[in-house]
Amino acid sequence: MKRRFTGLAAIAAAAALTLSACGGDGGRGGDDAGSDSTDDAVTLAEGDTIGVSLPWLGTQNWKEADQIFKTDLDEAGYNAIVQAADNKVPNQQSQIEAMIEQGAKVLIVGPIDGTQLGSVLEQAQASGITIIGYDRMIENTEAVDGVVQFGSIKTGEFQAQALLQGLEEEKGDGPYNIELFAGGPADPNAQLFFDGAMSVLQPKIDDGTLVVVSGQTDFTQAATQDWDNGKAQSRMDSILSGNYSNEQIDGVLSPNDGIARAIITSAEQAGQDIPVVSGLDAENESIAWIASGKQYSTVAKPTQEMVDQTMDILDSLAAGDGLPEANDTADNGAKEVPVYALEPTVVTLDNLEEFFADNEDIMAIINDNK
Ligand code: BGC
Repeated sequence: MKRRFTGLAAIAAAAALTLSACGGDGGRGGDDAGSDSTDDAVTLAEGDTIGVSLPWLGTQNWKEADQIFKTDLDEAGYNAIVQAADNKVPNQQSQIEAMIEQGAKVLIVGPIDGTQLGSVLEQAQASGITIIGYDRMIENTEAVDGVVQFGSIKTGEFQAQALLQGLEEEKGDGPYNIELFAGGPADPNAQLFFDGAMSVLQPKIDDGTLVVVSGQTDFTQAATQDWDNGKAQSRMDSILSGNYSNEQIDGVLSPNDGIARAIITSAEQAGQDIPVVSGLDAENESIAWIASGKQYSTVAKPTQEMVDQTMDILDSLAAGDGLPEANDTADNGAKEVPVYALEPTVVTLDNLEEFFADNEDIMAIINDNK
C-alpha cells in the first residue's frame, strides 16, 4: 500500500514532537491558546490510537467495514480499536467512552441512533479528538467534524428510479400496485433514503401510475425497527394477507438488500408472482438473486471506497494538513457538517457483469446463478 507513514515519517515524527512539547496528557487540552479553535483538527503520528465504533454487524457492509478498518488501520501503522455495538445504544456509548479513555486521537463513528451520541462525543471533542461520522450522520450536536457517506438522498432516488424502470420493463403498462418499506427509524439514513425515494415516487402516486394498496405511505408506517429483516417479512406477510387476496403486487420499495430478500420471500410464500424490488448494498446473496432474476435491483455503495475515503482523511491529518476539503455539507440539526460524499451506482441484471468485471469472487457468484 502506497499510503501512510512510509513517506510521511518525518512529518509525522515532527508532529509527534509538537504534540508532546505541548505537554500532552492524552488530550490536547490547552495547546491551542489564541488560535482559531473551530478547525484545530488533530495531527496524527505513527502508533496513534484510532477508534472505530460501528452500530452492528447485521448486514454485509458493516462486517466488511469491521474487517477492512482493522486491516487498513493496522497497515497504516495505527493502533486500531474497532468495535461494533450490537444495535444497543448504551453499548455504543460505553465503547466510545472506553476509546476516549484509551487515548484515541480520532473517532470514526457509525451511530446506531443518530441523536444519542451527543454527550459522549462532546466529551471526546473537549479532549481534542477529531470525530468523523461513517456512513450515517451524527445528529443534533456540534461534536462532529465531518461525515463520509454515499449520498443518502441520492441513494433513495436511485432506488425509486430503479423500481419504476423495473415495473415498466417487467410488469407491462401501469397502474402498478406497490408497497413501501423503509429502514430502522433511529438511523438517519433511513429517513433520507425514504425522502429521496418519495421525491421520485410521490408524483407517480399522485397521478395514479402507482397505487399503494395498503395505504401505508408514511415513513413511520414503512419503517422497519432496527433494520430487522424478520420484522420486514412479518409486515409484508400482513400487508399481503390483508390487501392482496384478489390483487397482484407489482413492486416494492426496499431500503436494503436484506429487507428486499425478506419481501421477496414473503411474496413467494403468499403465491404471488415475484414483484420488482429495489435494494441497497450489493450484498453477495442479492447479487446471486439479481443474476437469477429474483431481485430486480440493488444500489452499490462499496465499503472499500468508504474506508479509503476515511483513510485519506487520516492521511491529511497525519501530514498536519487538518481535514481535507469536503465536497458537500449537510445540516445535522446543530451545524452544517462537511460531507465527503461518494457516488452510489444502481445495479441490475443489465450492468451486473460490467460493474463487477474486476471482482473474481463476485463474478463466480454471478456465473453460478445466472
Ligand atoms: C447503511 C446500509 C445498511 C443499513 C443497515 C445503513 O445506514 O447505509 O448500508 O444496509 O444501515 O445496516
